[in-house]
Amino acid sequence: MTPIQKTIINKNTRSFPIWFMRQAGRYLPEFRKLREKNQDFIKLCLNSNVASEITLQPLNRFNLDAAIIFSDILMIPYALNQKVEFKKNFGPSLGDLDINSLSKINEKNFKNKLDPVYKLIQKVKLSNITKNKDIIGFIGAPWTLALYMINKISPKKNEINGVLNDPNKIKDLIQVLNKYLKIHILNQVKSGASIIQIFDSWAGLLDNKYLNDFVYSPTYELVKFTKSLNIPVICFPRGIKNYKNYCEEINPDVINIDYEINPNKIKDDINICVQGGLNPEILLTDKENIKKEAKKYLDIFADRPYIFNLGHGILPETNPDKVEYLVNFVKNY
Ligand code: CP3
Repeated sequence: MTPIQKTIINKNTRSFPIWFMRQAGRYLPEFRKLREKNQDFIKLCLNSNVASEITLQPLNRFNLDAAIIFSDILMIPYALNQKVEFKKNFGPSLGDLDINSLSKINEKNFKNKLDPVYKLIQKVKLSNITKNKDIIGFIGAPWTLALYMINKISPKKNEINGVLNDPNKIKDLIQVLNKYLKIHILNQVKSGASIIQIFDSWAGLLDNKYLNDFVYSPTYELVKFTKSLNIPVICFPRGIKNYKNYCEEINPDVINIDYEINPNKIKDDINICVQGGLNPEILLTDKENIKKEAKKYLDIFADRPYIFNLGHGILPETNPDKVEYLVNFVKNY
C-alpha cells in the first residue's frame, strides 16, 4: 500500500503523506524551460513525452508521495470540440459553445483526442520514481466545467448572473459532461491513475438554491462511479461555505479544504480524511513562518487521517527551496 492509501484506506494517523496541487508548474525553472519551447499549452498537454517529464519534475526534486498528471481540466471542452486557448497573463479563453453539436460527438473521437493524456499516464506509471507512490488523475467538476464552457473565461464573483439566467442550459450541459467525465475517469484509471481528484474551483460562487442541481447531484454520480472502480476519490469544492453538507451529500473518500475555512471547524464537523488547507501565499514568506503555519494544520489533524497539501495551487512566484523546506518539515514531523 502507498503512504496515501494507508492514510485514506487504513486511516493511518502516524505520518502525513504530502503532495501539492500545481506541483508541476511555473515556479519550477525546469518547467519554465520546457514551457518556453512549447508555447501552445494544449499542444504541450498532448505531448506525452514532454508532459510525462513535467509530471515527474517535482518528484525528482522533492520527497512527495504522489504525482499529479500534467494536464488541465479544460482538456474536456477541447475534446468536446470547443476551442480552448491559454493566453499569456490572461488565462484560458474558450470559443463559442455550440450545445447542439455536443449530441453529435462520438465517444471514439472523444477518446482519440485525449489518447496522448492516457499515454502520458502510462509513461508516468512505468517510471521508477512513482513506485509505491500514487498517480493522481483528475477532472473538473461538471459545474466548474459548464461555467467555463458558457462563460468562456475565468469568471469573476459577480459575473455569473448571466450564466445563471438559463439554468436549463446548465443542467443539459452538465448531463452531457457527466457522460464524458465518466469516460475520462475510466480511461485515466485504466492507464494507471490510482486516485481521482475532482476540482470544483467555482463551487463557492453558487447560492444554496443551486447546489443540489449543479454540484451535489452530478458530483455524487461521479464519486459513486469512481468508487465502483475501487479507486479513492478526493473532492475539492473550493470556497464552498458548508463543507459538512457537501461531505454528507457527496460522500467522497477525502475532502480537500481551501485556505479560507477554519480547520478547527472542519475537525469538529467532518470525520472523513482531510487534505490540504494551507494558504499558498504562506510559501512566499520566510521559513520560520512556513513552519509555524504548517504546524498549525499538523497539530489540528494530528489524530486524524490527513494528507498535507495546500488550500489551492502553488503560486508561480514561489521559491522551490521553500517547497523543499516544507516537504522536509512535514515528513520529519
Ligand atoms: O500540477 C498540477 O496540479 C497538475 C496539472 C493541473 C493544471 N491545471 C496545469 C496548469 C491541474 C490539476 C489543473 C487544474 C485546473 N485548471 C483548475 C482547477 C484547479 C484550480 O486552479 O482552481 C482550473 C480552474 C484550471 C483552468 C486553468 N488552467 C486556468 C485558470 C489556468 C491559467 C491560470 C493559472 O492558474 O495558471 C490554467 C493554466 C495551467 N494549468 C497552468 C498549469 C501548470 C499554467 C500554464 C502556463 O501558463 O505555463
